[in-house]
Amino acid sequence: MSTEALFNIQHPILQAPMAGSGSTDLVAAVSNAGGLGAAGAAPMKPDVLRAHIHEIRGKTDKPFNINLFAPASERYDQSLELGPKARALLESYHRELGLAELPEARALFGPAEAQLDVLIEEKVPVISFHFGVEQDHVERIHRAGLKVISSATTIGEAKTLESLGVDAVIAQGAEAGGHRGTFLGNYRQALIGTLALVPQVVDAVDIPVIAAGGIMDARGIVACRALGASAVQMGTAFLGCSETRIPPLWLQELKSSSPSRATVTTAMSGKPARGLRNRYISEMESLDEPLLPYSLQYSVSAPLRKKAMDQGNPDFPTMWSGQGVQMLREMPAAELLESLVRESEELLSQLAGSPD
Ligand SMILES: Cc1cc2nc3c(=O)[nH]c(=O)nc-3n(C[C@H](O)[C@H](O)[C@H](O)COP(=O)(O)O)c2cc1C
Repeated sequence: MSTEALFNIQHPILQAPMAGSGSTDLVAAVSNAGGLGAAGAAPMKPDVLRAHIHEIRGKTDKPFNINLFAPASERYDQSLELGPKARALLESYHRELGLAELPEARALFGPAEAQLDVLIEEKVPVISFHFGVEQDHVERIHRAGLKVISSATTIGEAKTLESLGVDAVIAQGAEAGGHRGTFLGNYRQALIGTLALVPQVVDAVDIPVIAAGGIMDARGIVACRALGASAVQMGTAFLGCSETRIPPLWLQELKSSSPSRATVTTAMSGKPARGLRNRYISEMESLDEPLLPYSLQYSVSAPLRKKAMDQGNPDFPTMWSGQGVQMLREMPAAELLESLVRESEELLSQLAGSPD
């Protein structure tokens, strides 16, 4: 089945859910333009999530996707504490920025169980997961007549997701911005480029494959369709859209960055994710000491990251970015969608060769 039919959309282009970034305007603009808009809901408490869904529905009557982080990502060793070197480094940053004591480490996302209850009650048309999915969740979503998709970063993960019953798998190549969706094994072995990952996932599963990672324009879309992908999911490309409203510093840094600055690190959140290298990442990585598990590591650096972002100081904030960063375009989301569709058609006819 085509992804257009699966999701009841016009164009096989999915805007990636981006927790902490994006807006209901972005979701609605993409869905209204015939793609699949998405919201990253992992940090939203159930009542906030419900209000968010109502707000999206006030702006579009088209299908959209709401994304959660798998419950497995909420389980961690409660006894772990921040190491002495990391604590001293963070405290020195706090002094530098005039911040108070370090906050207590706490879990930032979920609970996915309660969030999923809301998505099912509200009949959200497409529900997606990052960091794996649980079989009973897939079954509950299907019993409610809704669709479920999830990210895979290896062929093994894609086969696991298929066996759990997802409707389509997102093959997330190593180029991708934001968190690696890796949920089986070592993330370093799961850093497989989109060009290699997509066709091998297509060969390994019988469900539609959505390509993600480094796709910024028609060249990436057409290439991924040639690799066998049914659709594409794009994140970094939407960071330049006016509706996304990322802080001015992040946008400015994206506009002046090259792909080599978009690095995979665990130093920000405790899980591997690709973002723009800065002083915080380099200095944290240089400590010879294990960091806190996800998402505790993220929580202890939260006041620091926020204050630096507000002050326009690029040394400390999180600025997720894929390796396609230098192809970023600034335009409204509907215009980006229309350009992607038109340019893909033009490119396909160029490749087919014009008749004599
Ligand atoms: C700013 C940002 C935030 C992201 N947040 C999420 C998220 O909350 N959930 C998720 O499933 N994927 C998230 N991703 C990853 C995307 O789903 C997707 O894999 C990635 O954007 C594709 O690569 P690209 O950024 O090169 O287009 C995020 C990506 C970015 C850039």
